Amino acid sequence: MILEAKSLYKSYKKGNSTIKVLEGFNFEMEKGDFVAVVGPSGAGKSTLLHILGGLEKPDEGFVFFNGENIYNDRKNLDNIRNKHFGFVFQFHYLLNDFTALENVAIPGMINDSENNAFSRAKEILVKMGLEGRINHFPKELSGGEQQRVAIARALINDPSVLFADEPTGNLDKDNSRIIIDEFKRLNAEGLSIILVTHDEKIASVAKRTLRMEKL
Ligand SMILES: Nc1ncnc2c1ncn2[C@@H]1O[C@H](COP(=O)(O)OP(=O)(O)OP(=O)(O)O)[C@@H](O)[C@H]1O
Ligand SMILES: [Mg+2]
Repeated sequence: MILEAKSLYKSYKKGNSTIKVLEGFNFEMEKGDFVAVVGPSGAGKSTLLHILGGLEKPDEGFVFFNGENIYNDRKNLDNIRNKHFGFVFQFHYLLNDFTALENVAIPGMINDSENNAFSRAKEILVKMGLEGRINHFPKELSGGEQQRVAIARALINDPSVLFADEPTGNLDKDNSRIIIDEFKRLNAEGLSIILVTHDEKIASVAKRTLRMEKL
């Protein structure tokens, strides 16, 4: 089991009211799986993704990556997140003052030399069909291209799990298709993927679908 969650609880307090999001939620994922997470707005899809990805601690319960409790130790959590997890969000959050190549290479310098990070960044961008765009700044890229750069950035540290929260939320049909084909290719190469989407058609490319309901 690459990723496992046991009995997760999460609620948010706002003023006098408490919003329950997860109550005893369990999750299991084998290496190489591709899970689509669907459900109505507010069902807790992003919350679940953040908890599984080590970005937000659950109130109760455990998340295990390769059998290791990720929230046990702060330093180890950073290490797992940097080395083994990749994230793609609806908004790409690329750095505007840096080129596509630099945006992808920079997080690679955490684990590797500058030279290696740049050469790997280039390799990934080429694989994603962006060879002619590596020196473009984000504003010189189309929305679909920006999102492909964001995916390339998520892959720079060669993660074993890719977490994606509505990565096609801002894209038209053609660009969504390109992104989804990319995910399929990455999954075929062995990457485990958790993809949150509103779009049932996009969910259908995953190996299985996890449906969340509002509590
Ligand atoms: N930091 C927070 N403080 C208070 N409430 C929050 C917080 N984050 C999320 N919530 C609430 O928790 C619930 C679940 O939110 P979440 O973002 O996980 O939903 P979602 O399924 O991703 O929805 P969407 O499809 O709209 O992105 C929502 O009702 C939301 O308002
Ligand atoms: Mg969400």
